[in-house]
Amino acid sequence: MKHVLIDTDAGVDDALAILLALSSRELAIEGIATVAGNIDVEHATANVLTILDAVFPPIRPSVARGAERPLNRPLVTAAHVHGEDGLGNITTLRRPDGSPKYPSSRHGLVSLGAAEFIIDEVRKHGPGLTLITLGPLTNVAEAIRLNPETMRRVGEIIIMGGAFRTYGNTSPVAEFNIFVDPDAAARIVEFDVPKTVVPLDVTEQVILTRTELECRYASNPSPILDFTRDVSSFYMDFHRDNDGFDGCYMHDPTTVAFAIDRSVLMTVPAEVHVECKGEYTAGMTVADLRPERAGRYRTNTEVAVGVDAGRVIDLFFSRLLAC
Ligand code: RIB
Ligand code: CA
Repeated sequence: MKHVLIDTDAGVDDALAILLALSSRELAIEGIATVAGNIDVEHATANVLTILDAVFPPIRPSVARGAERPLNRPLVTAAHVHGEDGLGNITTLRRPDGSPKYPSSRHGLVSLGAAEFIIDEVRKHGPGLTLITLGPLTNVAEAIRLNPETMRRVGEIIIMGGAFRTYGNTSPVAEFNIFVDPDAAARIVEFDVPKTVVPLDVTEQVILTRTELECRYASNPSPILDFTRDVSSFYMDFHRDNDGFDGCYMHDPTTVAFAIDRSVLMTVPAEVHVECKGEYTAGMTVADLRPERAGRYRTNTEVAVGVDAGRVIDLFFSRLLAC
């Protein structure tokens, strides 16, 4: 059993990742921290509570509200990708009697802010805790600033972010989570703890098609797959209209899949830096990943360079169907 804390900007693929985590016995979710990114942190926090209400896990993780904006720059969000509510606009869905299909949650939050909550969980679990970050790294950077000694005890940070040998998805060279808060990301890659970066290079190879989701639902019309269909429809429309396929990239679920089964990704040691000053390159993740240059650099993180995409999708459905 791996004790994990998920830090999320609670967009659609975050929701799918949280479904996967909640459905996997390998993971004990000690908490969920929210951060502004795909959507403002108020919506991100409400979204996590909605996801938990929809899945109704046997043990409900604590939720902590996090940073409203990046460390040193204005917030950039992605409602055009994830919907006005960040969850594919499922908060507008109604049941036949007109009642909300996904009503606002009655559950509350822990009193600690996300950074303090993260520190608290690292203090409790030390090297037994894995941080899985699915959004901008603002909360984790703040936790390191507040208490570097405790944060140095964390077991591993698994980071969805970056683009090395592929284009960015927010600028030509920058992936969204890093683009939104490059200063925070720069702090984390230089922080001396075990970490693995899961970049677009691998996550854009993992696609959930609408056809597969509809087929899986048709043969197993479970509440969790109904939620999955509802939450991913708008996000799939975006990919259909912008990326040319009727489905969606599984950025965050691929990252959680790695926490469950490390063999789904192939990683290499690298010296990663984050560009924070470039007029056109802010948010770029910079590393020389050429095998023939291995050993020439000072390693500060592992970078995923290969993925068994089929296994990630199979893992996703095998866990959700077991619910
Ligand atoms: O670039 C993809 C990442 O940015 C995903 O985590 C997505 O949810 C957004 O946060
Ligand atoms: Ca995310």
